[in-house]
Amino acid sequence: MFIESDKEVTPAVLAAMENTTDPRFKEIITALVRHLHAFAREVKLTEPEWERGIGYLAELGQRTNDTHNEAILASDAIGLSTLVCLLNNGKDGNTETAAALLGPFWRMKSPVTANGGSIVRSQTPGPALFADIQVKDAKGNPLAGVEVDVWQASPVGKYENQDETQADMNLRGKFTTSADGKISFRSVKPAGYPVPTDGPVGELLRAQKRHPFRPAHVHFLLFKSGFKTLVTQVFVDDDKHLESDAVFGVTKKLVGDFRKREDKAPAADVSGEWYSLNYTFHMEPGEAHLPTPPIK
Ligand code: BEZ
Ligand code: FE
Repeated sequence: MFIESDKEVTPAVLAAMENTTDPRFKEIITALVRHLHAFAREVKLTEPEWERGIGYLAELGQRTNDTHNEAILASDAIGLSTLVCLLNNGKDGNTETAAALLGPFWRMKSPVTANGGSIVRSQTPGPALFADIQVKDAKGNPLAGVEVDVWQASPVGKYENQDETQADMNLRGKFTTSADGKISFRSVKPAGYPVPTDGPVGELLRAQKRHPFRPAHVHFLLFKSGFKTLVTQVFVDDDKHLESDAVFGVTKKLVGDFRKREDKAPAADVSGEWYSLNYTFHMEPGEAHLPTPPIK
């Protein structure tokens, strides 16, 4: 078929895709083509702008490696990760869910840690944090044997993979809920942090006059066969960026009770400020599925 005008391009491309065998792939790729073509028409995309866009996508790939994932970061910064999360969690895709985006910093093999243990694996100054986490099923019964992966930034807002002063796997740990559905661990109070801004995502944020900050949080990934894997984050309640998270991840349900405590700490070596966090997660019946780790 000869293409004689712009009007003929979209139908020609859709016709060429007609024999796609996998029906779901066909649905996704044809919708993507329709929307991309409609987008180019709507903004009257120029050739230099098209070149710039392709260059941007290529840079996302070039900036992604075993220790950094700029592609996930870009999806996060334009709200796509949160949209997909909220479309796929909670009842009928409404926002009544405790799920939140995975982010670019989950690592698969965090150290298995006994309940009550510490995830502080090298000297990490800051207020101590003692977390007590309850996991229940949708009916409110305690869920034993749930693998709970925990990861967080330090009190200066750095993940261990971004910070040479921290030991490998510092502030990361994998726990298993006890017979009463609980895990507990010691950590340090996380600080908020800017998402990485030295690449194309930083360029986007600057062009849009957006700040790069995420409110302080602890990440959780809960995994048990027969239950929908719950990927989430619990946010520190006094953070000034709760309502302007650079990656749109905060729902009210995920604001935690990080309580400053004046009583005796649960460990003898705590000298300064300490905080407690109590939080309950509910897991829905469904398929257990581990995400692809964004970094190694
Ligand atoms: C995170 O929470 O680890 C994160 C999420 C999005 C962008 C950068 C970091
Ligand atoms: Fe984070």
